[in-house]
Amino acid sequence: MPLQTRIEQTLNSAIDRATANSAPPYLCQALHSAVFPGGARIRPQLCLSVAQACGDTAPNVANAAAAAIELIHCGSLVHDDMPCFDDAALRRGKPSIHKAFGDPIAVLTGDTLIVQAFETLAQAADEAPDRVAKLVALLARYTGSPYGICAGQAWESESEVDLRAYHQAKTGAMFIAATQMGAVASGADPYLWHELGARIGEAFQVADDLRDVVCSEAELGKPTGQDAVHARPNAVQRLGLDGAVAHLNNVLGGAIASIPSCPGEAQLCAVIHATSQRLAPTQLQNNTAAE
Ligand code: IPE
Ligand code: IPE
Ligand code: MG
Ligand code: MG
Repeated sequence: MPLQTRIEQTLNSAIDRATANSAPPYLCQALHSAVFPGGARIRPQLCLSVAQACGDTAPNVANAAAAAIELIHCGSLVHDDMPCFDDAALRRGKPSIHKAFGDPIAVLTGDTLIVQAFETLAQAADEAPDRVAKLVALLARYTGSPYGICAGQAWESESEVDLRAYHQAKTGAMFIAATQMGAVASGADPYLWHELGARIGEAFQVADDLRDVVCSEAELGKPTGQDAVHARPNAVQRLGLDGAVAHLNNVLGGAIASIPSCPGEAQLCAVIHATSQRLAPTQLQNNTAAE
């Protein structure tokens, strides 16, 4: 089954669970809208690609891990767009959740998606209890504080920011979760998969900085120029356009070189290479490609 189908089916089951029976209809609509249609689904694809490279020995557990990561990501975007964070009116080409449903439902949608992520993992516990226990611990680590999205977002409320800690926690964490959880779902050692996730996360952050500068709102389906508006550090402002593209290529090259040896190593290299080419804004793609 294609990875995309595995991801969408597992997300559908998760949202069905959260919207079953007598759940409040307005919350149900918001939950659906926050998850479907999706964005690039890059994190769950990475998670399943690593699970496959490690033998895909428990596909249902890998599907649960991939969907759980995407649910956390979607929930974090709902909260991130709220007036108390980035106050963004548009997400994935549609009104953001708080614009469409109001602030209270947006808070509860983000909360429900985070909780549903852990419930989705718990659903796979009977099949592989030891693996699921490790997956829960990893997902919590990369969602909360000090290493996860909560800490990453909280750095934006500090006057002095440790840039590396900020980027690692805000953006890198979910990529590290993706590679490590994909490995654990297939019974492999997560420790070996940390570096690949961290490097892809770093590349994603640079690519996101480039998109924020060179793309239009219509292309991205969300506001652009946000780093300048919020006075946030941006790789283009730091390194210039060419410097940022060179840095992106450098980081991507390192990511491919860091893939641990595993049964599906060659295929995973090809997947990461293809993913890395999709990271850069289309206008700059001739200049970027991981070596
Ligand atoms: C956007 O992530 C948020 C960041 C962490 C910078 P994506 O660009 O992966 O968003 P979607 O899921 O494709 O919409
Ligand atoms: C949002 O980060 C992603 C989270 C980790 C919550 P940004 O604010 O930088 O990304 P966009 O531009 O809204 O997608
Ligand atoms: Mg933000
Ligand atoms: Mg934002």
